[in-house]
Amino acid sequence: MLDTLQTVGVDMGFGWTKVWSDHSYQKFPAVVARGNDRNLARITETFKPSDMVLDVEITNQSTGVTGHYFIGDLAIREGEQPTYIWSKNKAADDMSLACLATSLALVARNDHQDFYVITGLPVAHFGTQLKEDFQQALKGNKFTVRFLSGRLQGRSKEIRILSAKVFPQGYGVYLDQLLDAGGRIAATEYLAPTGILDIGFKTTDVVFVNDMQPVDRSSFPLELGMSWAYEQVQKHLNNGYDIQKSLEEMEIIFQEKQVRINKEYKRIDPWIETAYRALTDRLKNEIARKWTNTTDLDNIVIAGGGGLALYDYLDYPQKVLPPDAQFSNAKGFWKAGKKISGGLRNDQRNTAVDA
Ligand SMILES: Nc1ncnc2c1ncn2[C@@H]1O[C@H](COP(=O)(O)OP(=O)(O)OP(=O)(O)O)[C@@H](O)[C@H]1O
Ligand SMILES: [Mg+2]
Repeated sequence: MLDTLQTVGVDMGFGWTKVWSDHSYQKFPAVVARGNDRNLARITETFKPSDMVLDVEITNQSTGVTGHYFIGDLAIREGEQPTYIWSKNKAADDMSLACLATSLALVARNDHQDFYVITGLPVAHFGTQLKEDFQQALKGNKFTVRFLSGRLQGRSKEIRILSAKVFPQGYGVYLDQLLDAGGRIAATEYLAPTGILDIGFKTTDVVFVNDMQPVDRSSFPLELGMSWAYEQVQKHLNNGYDIQKSLEEMEIIFQEKQVRINKEYKRIDPWIETAYRALTDRLKNEIARKWTNTTDLDNIVIAGGGGLALYDYLDYPQKVLPPDAQFSNAKGFWKAGKKISGGLRNDQRNTAVDA
């Protein structure tokens, strides 16, 4: 049984859900809406096949409850009242569990798949009872995920979480730097004092690690992320041009670097640049209040989707951008999981599975 256990790292952020496993990885916006019938939309999909249509029916086998959801881009495009998942207690919230189950279904090796899930909680919530509750609540969950449209239409995945472990978000980024794909220590320069900035959609997790140990008193969350930069340009559009845009729409405007005003597209590179600089200054000031001497840090790793955006603006001389910056947490969780599940496999070769 343990040989068929699939190890996955899942990073359920306020903006995006990211999942990393042996041969596959996926991300989608952490937005969920109640699903509805897509008979008409499915006709156009025949001509315009789209590969990531997350129209899913999820049965929680523990409770017997079935729900129909639109997730990610589909929820933004077609959902009624699409909502970001901003609940604290992710294991008790059926929308969060829908995101988790969908992420596992997307990378599942087999149609019936047992998982070892390693995931994270924001640094702000980590020290609390939430971590224990979350870890316990994840274990033993069973879901059936049925894809109702898109490339996977008609496919069904039976998912079981046999075991789960929860780390602080941001620590995954550290593990991704230190460990190789088998979970062995590979980059020994990361045993030296290392700072992690995991810049996300709504928050930035700042973690200080010394000799592999995250240090509590120098690790802290900041309620500041990419959405702050979006809000600055959102206000500018509202006040200067009477144009209202949602945060979901601002994401797209930032990607395209242009916005439609009357009948013309206006390039907004200078506005983006100003917003990125202002966000970087705010982050640097907040960090300087807690990390009084950044020269003591051998490495400063800048990750998260926001890390990709702000890396060039942050002027720490020892800065590093990981190759898969937005996935770095999920990837680090997966690497640590490979090591632990390897150990599980050896220890429990002749004993029962931790179910
Ligand atoms: N290549 C890129 N360039 C600029 N911005 C990017 C890039 N890739 C991702 N982003 C931005 O990064 C943000 C998402 O980052 P990430 O997935 O790390 O957030 P999150 O983990 O969901 O949020 P949080 O950490 O607050 O919970 C998005 O707002 C996205 O627009
Ligand atoms: Mg994040």
